[in-house]
Amino acid sequence: MAERQRVGVLVSGRGSNLQALIDAAGAADFPARIVGVISNKRGAYALERARAADIPSATISHRQFEGRAAFEEALIAQLRDWQVDWVVLAGFMRVLTPTFIRAFAPRILNIHPSLLPAFPGVGVQQAALDYGVRVSGCTVHLVDEGTDTGPIIAQAAVPVRDDDNAESLAARILVEEHRIFPAAIRQIISKPWRLVGRRIVFEDAP
Ligand code: GAR
Repeated sequence: MAERQRVGVLVSGRGSNLQALIDAAGAADFPARIVGVISNKRGAYALERARAADIPSATISHRQFEGRAAFEEALIAQLRDWQVDWVVLAGFMRVLTPTFIRAFAPRILNIHPSLLPAFPGVGVQQAALDYGVRVSGCTVHLVDEGTDTGPIIAQAAVPVRDDDNAESLAARILVEEHRIFPAAIRQIISKPWRLVGRRIVFEDAP
């Protein structure tokens, strides 16, 4: 197998998607390994998960910095120090500016808890309920300079039930997140692909 790609993961909270990646990366044929985890929140449970898996971690709080530019420079410096090939946003709750995106694009991946392009941004499970959609889900996409607008790698749908609240819908979506995020990362890293307009087209390896 080709050498594993080096992945840096950005988190802000509980880190259940990070855990799904850690678990997937335990497989001998997974094409990537997590070389570092950065949290912008001190004490995030995701940091415990990194520690338990012997993965280096750092807390870089946006509050330590005067503005976004300095915060992102610190993120970039840490990720470069770890020599990452890919950046994975796993529940990272800060919007990244073009400065950060250009440092790593197109190798930045995000998981979002709606069927994009419906409900970008935050508070999306409640937004889906308020709108009255019957189906929601999650999306794994490449990150571009917009908010949740990049080319889509994978999606999974779940039903919205009449008695759902934001928590119950989020929990149902999360089960699918844990399934499709590692699978999409495996796919985008191990298979040749190209962009045709907005579409990601995978080419079968010869
Ligand atoms: C997940 O539902 C993820 O899709 C969402 O935050 C949660 C993080 O959970 N991400 C976003 O909303 C990004 N804007 P986790 O910390 O347990 O992985």
